[in-house]
Amino acid sequence: MGILGLGTVGTGTVELLLDSTGRNPLLSEIEIYRVGVRELNKPRKVKLPDGVIINDLNAIVSDPQVDIIVELIGGVEPARSLVLRAIQFGKHIITANKALISRFGDEIFTAADQAGVYVMLEAAVGGGIPVIRPLKESLSINRINTVTAIINGTTNYILTQMQMGSGSFDDVLTDAQNLGYAEADPSADIDGLDAADKIAILASLAFNGRIRLEEVYYEGICKVSKIDIVYAEKLGFVIKLLAIAQQDKKDNLPAPLSVRVHPTLVPKEHPLASINGIYNAILVEGEPIGQVMFFGPGAGAGATASAVSSDILNMVAELKISAQTLNPILTWKLHKHNEITP
Ligand code: HSE
Repeated sequence: MGILGLGTVGTGTVELLLDSTGRNPLLSEIEIYRVGVRELNKPRKVKLPDGVIINDLNAIVSDPQVDIIVELIGGVEPARSLVLRAIQFGKHIITANKALISRFGDEIFTAADQAGVYVMLEAAVGGGIPVIRPLKESLSINRINTVTAIINGTTNYILTQMQMGSGSFDDVLTDAQNLGYAEADPSADIDGLDAADKIAILASLAFNGRIRLEEVYYEGICKVSKIDIVYAEKLGFVIKLLAIAQQDKKDNLPAPLSVRVHPTLVPKEHPLASINGIYNAILVEGEPIGQVMFFGPGAGAGATASAVSSDILNMVAELKISAQTLNPILTWKLHKHNEITP
């Protein structure tokens, strides 16, 4: 396996994979063969054998010893080119990159289909919360009406701190950055872009279509002031940055899908009103299931590493099943071969 990126999430993932005691036994089958970084001589929290960490990312994605690429560099480029190149070389892909999937998902999934490789992205939305696989699989029989979500930990952390009256906006943002929650460019969090990328992905899964970032209206929390929060509170509301994908019905026919991100007055008794700090929650409403809510840590090294590693284990399990499916053919070939060369 090759990992691209050794930042907050990359480091958390390597730490988790190296500490296999008491965890899923499949972990013992995983080898971190290469880790690609931009700067070779930076001090690192994780210790890997000499030669594993290299700065030639192109070499990793084309290395015949590598079967799975875990892309954790984030942002669109060079992630997009590296992932497409890896697919061309027949590698299976795991990514935590919401911007890449929301904006270039079509290109990546088409390339992956053509190459016959898997793409998994559990960590792209909701940090450690398992939500991609449940939407894609366990809930897929339902007709989804609405997805209402808090899916940016940084802004939820800032709004929560503002509500508690602690620290200025800038101080709280600096805290969020120091805790490893905010994006490298935190304006993506503050302006709602990060949540827009994520709701585009959730909406695509929930509504069986392809929702592009351009189709998502988004607005961040810059205009939310302390006074707004105080008045909201007096009126029985909290202010949350909600990401919503909603398909109403008109004359019993589905109306156009609306996908948006904006600060919202949420009644205090609503299930999303009590989601505080870096926690995320995704409330899915559908038929026949009714309401289902996914809740958990939405950002941070450990939580996101948990989601990335779950994809790694699922990928290994999936590849083992594919190999077993091939086994009878391989066995037959071996048998024939033995017959003619006793
Ligand atoms: N910056 C993101 C957030 C990280 O705050 O939610 C997880 O995607």
